[in-house]
Amino acid sequence: MPDVLQDFDVSDVNGSLISPALPTAFTPTGTPLRLGILASGSGSNFEAIAQAIRDRTLNAEVKVLIYNNPGAKVVERAKTFNISTCLLNHRDYPNREALDQAMIQVLHQHQVEWVVMAGWMRIVTRVLIEAFPRRIVNIHPSLLPSFPGVHAVEQALGAGVKITGCTVHLVELAVDQGPILVQAAVPVLPGDTPETLHRRIQVEEHRIIVAAIHQICQSRLKS
Ligand code: GAR
Repeated sequence: MPDVLQDFDVSDVNGSLISPALPTAFTPTGTPLRLGILASGSGSNFEAIAQAIRDRTLNAEVKVLIYNNPGAKVVERAKTFNISTCLLNHRDYPNREALDQAMIQVLHQHQVEWVVMAGWMRIVTRVLIEAFPRRIVNIHPSLLPSFPGVHAVEQALGAGVKITGCTVHLVELAVDQGPILVQAAVPVLPGDTPETLHRRIQVEEHRIIVAAIHQICQSRLKS
């Protein structure tokens, strides 16, 4: 596979996209960016990406959805977009590295260039990161580096912050760390519960995940 993204430079996008406006359409020059998406649950971010591709807002193609929980709602969403799915149940693997190795095989079979962790609730290892160096992005429901981990929304509420948000970043070994590509801010409102706050954060997530992938596409065109 040609390594056209070898020179992807995070400074191309870093800091330029606080609550970014999205492109309304793209000029279909160049081949679509080949994405593999990892998701564990509902898949609303997956759907935002698939819909943006369908709307021709993103010059990309979802080659495969990998999911780890049988019955995850994301599978139903993938079916409506005719996107290939692959269940890799983490419970069937002896350790995280073995699951990552299985994922690499599937991602390579589908000639994936970039990997998107869109609600992927498993820790990934060096094995996956080294197979896709600086080509894995993750979306997280807080303004990182605040509130990493699985309870980000609850922790933001518990800390009494007045503004939280969401982040798309490049994946590195340390969980929920790595160069930040895009962030959006979301106010915490009086009476917010984890559910109401998360719902508003997700509205922004759906915008910034698409914006981040768009920026990656643009960066590829430049290199
Ligand atoms: C999203 O809010 C995402 O930020 C979060 O899981 C949710 C998945 O929603 N990810 C993490 O917390 C990762 N640490 P979705 O399945 O509807 O896209």
